[in-house]
Order: sequence, then C-alpha cells, then structure tokens
Amino acid sequence: MNEQINAVLRPKSIAVVGASATPGKIGYTVLENLVKEGYNGVIYPINPTATEILGMKVYKSISDVPGPIDAACITIPAKFVSAAVDECGKKGVKGLIIITSGFSEVGDRALEDEIVAKAHSYNMRILGPNIVGTLSNSDKLNASFAPFLPLEGKASLVTQSGALLIAIDAASFTRRVGFDKLVSIGNAADISISDLVTWLDEDASTSCISLYIEGFKDGRAFIEAGKAASKPIIALKSGVSAHGAAAAASHTGSLAGAAKVYSAAFQQAGVIQASDLNNLFDRTLALSLQPPMRGDNLLVLTNGGGVGVLATDAAERYGLPLKFAPADVQAELKKHMPEFGSAKNPVDMTGMAGLEWYHETTKFAYSHPWVDGLVVLYCETAMTNPMEIAQGILTAVEESGIKDKPITVSFVGGERSDKAMRMLVEKGIPAYPAPDIAVNAMGALREYTHLREMVTEGAVAAPKVDSKTAREVIAKARMEGRGALTEIESKQVFAAYGLPVTTTQLARTEDEAVALAKKIGFPIVMKIVSPDILHKSDAGGVKVNVKDEQAVRDNFRTIMANARAYKADADIHGIAIQEMAPWGTEVILGSVNDPTFGPTMMFGLGGIFVEVLKDVTFRVAPVSAGQAARMLGEIRGAPILAGVRGEAPRDRKALSEVLCLYSNMIFDLADEIAESDANPVLVYEEGKGVKVVDARVILKKKA
Ligand code: ACO
Repeated sequence: MNEQINAVLRPKSIAVVGASATPGKIGYTVLENLVKEGYNGVIYPINPTATEILGMKVYKSISDVPGPIDAACITIPAKFVSAAVDECGKKGVKGLIIITSGFSEVGDRALEDEIVAKAHSYNMRILGPNIVGTLSNSDKLNASFAPFLPLEGKASLVTQSGALLIAIDAASFTRRVGFDKLVSIGNAADISISDLVTWLDEDASTSCISLYIEGFKDGRAFIEAGKAASKPIIALKSGVSAHGAAAAASHTGSLAGAAKVYSAAFQQAGVIQASDLNNLFDRTLALSLQPPMRGDNLLVLTNGGGVGVLATDAAERYGLPLKFAPADVQAELKKHMPEFGSAKNPVDMTGMAGLEWYHETTKFAYSHPWVDGLVVLYCETAMTNPMEIAQGILTAVEESGIKDKPITVSFVGGERSDKAMRMLVEKGIPAYPAPDIAVNAMGALREYTHLREMVTEGAVAAPKVDSKTAREVIAKARMEGRGALTEIESKQVFAAYGLPVTTTQLARTEDEAVALAKKIGFPIVMKIVSPDILHKSDAGGVKVNVKDEQAVRDNFRTIMANARAYKADADIHGIAIQEMAPWGTEVILGSVNDPTFGPTMMFGLGGIFVEVLKDVTFRVAPVSAGQAARMLGEIRGAPILAGVRGEAPRDRKALSEVLCLYSNMIFDLADEIAESDANPVLVYEEGKGVKVVDARVILKKKA
C-alpha cells in the first residue's frame, strides 16, 4: 500500500494546523471531531497564539511537536498554506489533508501547483485542497468538518463534492447504508480518484468502492485502476447532459458527449454505474454486503402478485429477464403454497404465506443450484408480522450456509416493514422499500460479474502496421500547412493500419483520369480532391457509377467546374478515381481525441441511423476483439447486421476486425489525429468482408 496515502487516510498521528479555540471555525470543528469520535491516534493542535484547546496542549508550530506526524490537516487561509507545507515537509510529515479553499477552483492554479511541487519535494502527498476532509470508522477518525462519522459499514466513498460528502454522511443513517471511509477529494491536485481506488482496493475495511465523479484529469489511469481492482466499484457521474457536449468539427465529435464516453470508459474499467444518487445508495448497499451474481437465473419469491409483476418488469429492465424454474424446483416450491399459488417465476406463495412458508421456500430456493440470485418480496398483511417474516428469511439464509450467492429483499408496507428491513440490513441482507429497487440492486451484482469477465478477457492484439508511411503522409500535409488530410491521404493512412479501403488514385488531368479508370475497371466513382472542400457532395464534387471513357471525360469537366463555382479559390489537387464498391450495409466509424480519455472511437449504422437516431456506441481505444464484437451488438440497429427480412447476415467478424484495426490506428496516431471518420464503410454478407469507401482525418493543432 502507498505509504503516504496510508498516512493521509489512516494516520497514527495527526496535526491540525490552524486549530482554533473559537467554536464555529473549521479549525475548531476538525479538532473537536477528532476528539469527539475518539480517534485512536495522537492529536497535535497547532496555533501560534493559543496554549490549550479542548483540554489539549497546543504547539506554536509544527516544528515544536515532539513526536512523528503522519498527517497534517490544514485549516488556515490559502495565502499561508505554502509556508505551512514547507514546515510540514521539514518536520517529516508524510501526508497533508488540505481543507482550505482558494486554489484552482477560483482560478489560482499557480498556487495549487506550487504546493503540490513543494509537497512532492518533501515526499509528501496531498489530499485536496478544497475538501471537507477524510473520515474512517475503523480508525474513529473524523478529520473533517462533517458533523459525525457515518453509519458503520463496509463501503467506502470518494467524492468530488464536499457538500455531498456531508449529505451522504448524514443520510447513511436514514438510508441504512453503512460506510467505513468517506473521502473528500476536492480539486484532486495530487492524490487522484485512481490513486484512491487502488488504495481502497487494498484496504481491509472496504468491501465496495463508491464514487461520486464530476470529472477526471487522467481518464486512462482511472481505467487501469478500475481494471486492476478486485472489489466492486460503483460510480455516479454528474455533468452528463448534452449541454456539455463539445462543439466539434466532425460527426463523431458532436455525438461524443460526456455521458457516452464516460459510460464506455466505466465499462472498460469494470466500473458499475449508478443512475442517480438514490441508485448510488441502493447499489452500494448491495455491492458492499452481497457476493456477485454468477449466472443469469434469478428467482423471485413473493406473497403478492402485484409486486411480483413489478419485479418481473424490473428484471427485464435491468438485464435479468426471469425464466421459469425447472420442473423439480417448481414441484418442491408447490409444497409451500396453496393450490392457487404459482411455483413458476415469480414464485407467488399468495397472501396466505406466513413465517413457515417464507422460511422453507427461501431456504430451498437459496440453496438450489439452479438459482444464481434470489429476490424475496413481501407485502405487509394483517395476518403476518414483518419482523417474523424477516427473521424467517434470515434464518433460512444462515441455515443454508451459503456465502457465494446474492439475495436482496423488498418489504412493501409501513413502519413494521421498515423495522424488519433495518434488522435484515444490519444482518447483511440488503432490503429495499420497493421491488424494482431490490431487482436493480441484484442487477448491479450481476453486472459486476459481467464487467469482471470483460476486463479480464484477452488483451488487445497489436496488429502489424506501417506507421512510417502513415506518419510520412501526415508530415507532408503538415508541411503544406494543412490541418486535414484529403480523402486519398486519409485512405493511405487507413491502409497503412490494415484497413480495407477502396482503391483510390489521384488524376490531375482528364487523360490521367481515363487511364486510371481503365486500370481500376469500370464502373468507377469520381470525387473532387481539395483540402478546401470537405463536404464533397454539397459541392457537386462526386459522381458515381461512371461507366465508360466518355463519361469520365464529361464528369471530369463538370466536377472541376462545380468545385470552382463552390469555392473559387479552392486548392484543387485533382479528381480521385475510385473503385466502385458494390452495395453493402452502410456503417460509420469515427474518432475523437477526448480531453479526458484520449483517442476514443465511435461505431454505428450509417445514414439516418447516425444522422437522426444517433444510434452509436463508443469505446476508449484501443479495443479488444471482444469489445469490438460487443459494440456491434450494442447498437439498437444490431439486428440489421444479424440479417433481417430474409437478408443474409453481414460479415460481423470482418467488421469487428476493422473496428480493432481502426481503434489501433487512432491510438497509435493519437499525437497526430484530432478526429477521423470512415463513412460510409460497407459491410457485405458473411465471408465477403468490409470496404471503407470514404475516409477523413483531421489533424491535431500543434503549437
Ligand atoms: N499555523 C497554525 N495556525 C495558524 C497559522 C499557521 N501558519 N496561520 C493562521 N493560523 C490560525 C489562526 O490564528 C486561526 O486561529 P485563531 O482562531 O486562534 O485565531 C486559525 O488558524 C484559522 O485561521 P483564520 O484566519 O481564522 O481562518 P478561518 O478559520 O476564518 O478560515 C479556512 C480558514 C477555513 C481554511 C478558510 O480559509 C477556507 O478555506 N474555508 C473554506 C473551506 C472549505 O469549505 N473547504 C471545503 C470545500 S467543499 C464544501 O464546500 C463543502
């Protein structure tokens, strides 16, 4: 474990720099919190004028402290922090918890950089600045100005919003979601979310890592930290509305909003997502208390048809559609219900179900190998006692001796149900007030297994590429002062990375056009080549299905005239003579260089699917063969690739390979390519491959 981060999150001794005797000041509250919660380390209050605060001896400066100091919690104004960092460094403090605001969040990046550089020069790490602090139940450490330690539990939360930490701290008691650590990360000037994921993954008191994220600095480090983690990680990302999508030069750029790119990155990092704050609580509870769900067979037990149907709907919504239980399972379940009950799935024991039936069916179903996950529902009735039912469920689970299968519960009712659920949660069984929430929580436990399978599947293959040729093409365009490659150049770059582009060559004159057309073979396509005309069709610069020599000559003149009419001063390189690819299913590949995650690729069906329906999916490059195949299945238009209305299936294997090659290209040339697209790419019947018909590369601006 990282020693300095250890010192910050689990200090054996802590100095409060700016400890104050004045109630209401943060420096007073932090000290009071440390004392009040019974922190099990040594506390050193530091203040230049006070002699005693809260009965503790106060040191005038950190250098006066007699013993070693693991962490210093800084609660003095920003302008004094840099000097305090020096003092701490000289004293040999290992880590700093800087609560103080007034750094990059208000535009003072220089001061923030200065304190980080200083801290590093003394081998110290910084949590913050601009944070509430850090809390740890297992150490009785409340080094923060949040009012108290959270409800004890096994999850640990890292949040970029300090106010949210305080809110979650308080809500942990009403929501009955327990935490061991709450860590406020603020400006994350030094210790990052990724560092904390790695640290918490090794923390014995943490079973699930819960994150509230506004944005990262280094998205790839996060993906790596997530992949390497062995505990479930759940993230709530805010700021995903279309409002934030960057204005961009390409299709992909305009479609690559934060939501889609972050979702892709979370998936690649093996991180489960929460849809909102409630969902973060609900899923954190299940992930912190229950093992993952290893198969698809979910069984729902209920005493009420309505909640059973609600759970059935939710199961489908959250990726766990219910299946009928096998006949032997049904036969056994039938023994614990009246004639008019149903042993299918959901298993409806009816309103007659009391303690005994709940106990017997739960025990049987939970123990049966067909069942991979169990959701037990209960509607409060006049004849039954919720606490008794809860006790029956708990005893059944305990008697089964099973530890590697998840169970979630929902009691729908009033105060008695609420009390019963509290008891279940305290005993480690997540319980929720609505059936769909219990199913959603189970969905998170299933997602976790899927995500772990994905991140551990085969590594990304590194195909043989001719990057030298690609870089030469780019260098030549840059030499000519261009920020984009022409179609022919783009295709040369694509071809150098193994992508199957249509044969395209440049004709400068009519005669050259005729000669090339004959060489390539009729019919051909003719397209204007000009760095000043990116939308070739709009300029009347494209002619397809050109069948003979005379047509080549006629079209050559027409295209040239159209291009000049479109933009009189356009720099025209000539006309591309291109093999006319036969019809296929149109798809689009695109890329952006995302500010957080770097080269990121998009895939979707072409035409209206992308234009109108925005039916696209993203991945951070490069992608493995498994991820590429998943991208094909993720879009709503996936059945079109599988073959609809009697059409043969498309060559998805070849298309997956193309996705991998393309992702490898944008990854390898990330220092050069800002955006690119291949549109359209034609996909033929199985075994007949794929053709990239048009390609575009926009170069990164260089200083
Ligand atoms: N060493 C030790 N003590 C010092 C030093 C020093 N170098 N310099 C000053 N002090 C003492 C002061 O004398 C004072 O003690 P006193 O009360 O005995 O006089 C104490 O440190 C605090 O200094 P003040 O000048 O009184 O500062 P104040 O308490 O008003 O503010 C604070 C300091 C809280 C750090 C403020 O600058 C700040 O940043 N506030 C915002 C913090 C915040 O909200 N962070 C989380 C953001 S997330 C969210 O919004 C929920």
